[in-house]
Amino acid sequence: MNQETRCGIEGISVAIPKHFIDLGTLAKATGIDPEKFYKGLGGRRMAVVTPLEDPVTLAAEAARTLLDRYRVDPAGVGMVIVGSESGVDAAKPIAAYVHGMLKLAPQCRTFDTQHACYGATAALQMARNWTLRHQGECRKAVVIATDIARYDVGSAGEPTQGAGAVAMLIGTEPEVLTIDSAPDAVYTEDVMDFWRPHYQSTAMVDGKYSLECYLRALEHTYRTYQRTSGLSWDDYRRLLFHVPFPKMAYKAFKLLHELEADRHNGDFPSFEDSYDRLSEPALWANREVGNIYSGSLYLSLAGLLESEGAELESARLGFFSYGSGCCAEFFSGRIGPDSGIWRGRTGISEALEDRVELDYEQYIELRTKTDAMSRNGSFRERVRTNGEHFWFCGVDDHRRIYASASSSAAAKPLATAPSIVAGSPVAVQSPAMQRFS
Ligand code: COA
Repeated sequence: MNQETRCGIEGISVAIPKHFIDLGTLAKATGIDPEKFYKGLGGRRMAVVTPLEDPVTLAAEAARTLLDRYRVDPAGVGMVIVGSESGVDAAKPIAAYVHGMLKLAPQCRTFDTQHACYGATAALQMARNWTLRHQGECRKAVVIATDIARYDVGSAGEPTQGAGAVAMLIGTEPEVLTIDSAPDAVYTEDVMDFWRPHYQSTAMVDGKYSLECYLRALEHTYRTYQRTSGLSWDDYRRLLFHVPFPKMAYKAFKLLHELEADRHNGDFPSFEDSYDRLSEPALWANREVGNIYSGSLYLSLAGLLESEGAELESARLGFFSYGSGCCAEFFSGRIGPDSGIWRGRTGISEALEDRVELDYEQYIELRTKTDAMSRNGSFRERVRTNGEHFWFCGVDDHRRIYASASSSAAAKPLATAPSIVAGSPVAVQSPAMQRFS
């Protein structure tokens, strides 16, 4: 590997919608055995947005808490890149909205990257190159992955929905993760495994084919990275994968384990032990939130930082990022040596503790209201803001209106409270091991 300036993730912060539905509730309401969703797909719950949350508010929340928690001067942010496949406008990027909502300086480049769930990884690599080029200028880049995963009601993809955003601060003091300087291990193939035409609010997917494409891209990129980076299986303390649903990470790990077992002529640690040690610990947050498309790999990273301490200090992790269509990449990085700096700062645990559970009827009602809210020219929701969060207030004269966390002026007049569904916060289960059958 090349020796060059350290660069990577200095801070990471997560934003998650306030409501969720348990996959067992969804299964029972649709006449499916809950074990199919719990064990067969590996999920537990999925985040559901209200009409007042959208990819922009999620991105802004994640970025605002990132800047607050890591005490970043907004004037020092020189670039914001948003990786998303849930864009709210065909021209104006989410990054421009976020720039305004966070009151960043004009001398800041803003744009979105899109390639299904690979968008944020493209953004991360671009931000890293930009940071290395501008070292010495003390300017940081912010990369945000934000998405709402939506499939049709009653479709096979429905239990793999979710929503959320992950914001990452990129710089040359990467206390969280130094990205290794190795040649790119990328793979692109023009396939129709998952897509969303402009006229659709839900994704279309050739489910089984998408699993094949994912695994083919994994094999290509993993083999390439092993050849060109000089790293091998034993160098990775954890292996993280893109997680459209947790069982997919299990399938991905199984493939890599088989490749390595073949290479070692069978003289290799057992699958169960290897999986429980290397990959399972990174999946607990994905089980709670569901698929967040471009952010799902980085949600795994944040979950790991939250649940592990000294064990992870200075550990090298392998990452596999996959975006349907398709583009994929394998890369690696080394966690910072001081868990006191990165442990418990992602915001996941607080966000999960504070959620409200929906029943099936409430979930359907929220979907219907969210669709109406986003439609061009639809009504403008009147939001009472307490100044703590960003809210989407509707479309007015074809312009999206947002209530800013720090200003109530954008939310005038005040009429209804942002809480769409009444209920009590539900406690989250602590990270637990789950073996698939
Ligand atoms: N108890 C336990 N497991 C059960 C079960 C039950 N009662 N019923 C089914 N299962 C298991 C199946 O055996 C299968 O496991 P396997 O994959 O290890 O064989 C799993 O649950 C899924 O069942 P399946 O019948 O294959 O599900 P499906 O036809 O409903 O579709 C997906 C599954 C993943 C294809 C679908 O959810 C989808 O399209 N998802 C979105 C696409 C996606 O995320 N692609 C990933 C690439 S980015």
